[in-house]
Amino acid sequence: MLRRILTVPNSILNTPASAVSLFDRRLKGLADDMIETMHYASGVGLAAPQVGQSLCLIVVEYNSARDDSPRGPSIPLTILVNPEIVHFSIDYKIQLEGCLSIPGVELPIKRSQRIKIVGQNLSGDRVKINATGFSARIFQHEVDHVNGILITDRAKPHRRSPNL
Ligand code: NI
Repeated sequence: MLRRILTVPNSILNTPASAVSLFDRRLKGLADDMIETMHYASGVGLAAPQVGQSLCLIVVEYNSARDDSPRGPSIPLTILVNPEIVHFSIDYKIQLEGCLSIPGVELPIKRSQRIKIVGQNLSGDRVKINATGFSARIFQHEVDHVNGILITDRAKPHRRSPNL
């Protein structure tokens, strides 16, 4: 079932989501709906708070063959529950990033080039993923969502030095 994607301003999008503790049919149903909604919206990732469910659940998928200007290798469909990035590389890249919850806005966002992310699958088993480049960027973006962080928070301009 397609779900409506929340757009800013909406307090759910700025609120850290709750950890998932029940790995039941309802969670599976939510993940299925998020995948359908992500495909419908032509997105490469979606987090549960974006469909109004304040839960730590993300889905990611990228098909470079369907992209006019591929941004990296394809990423297989990945469902991650309670995702947590446990390693960020020091080397980073600044690139324009959009968000389905902030239509029409693209902002330059600094992201680590390599990350290690841990979480669980829909059965509750622990999983570990190493991601690089565009894939690492998407995971960082979606994990930000479950932490209540949006690209507009990341892109806040640095405070200017005082004019003397
Ligand atoms: Ni987003």
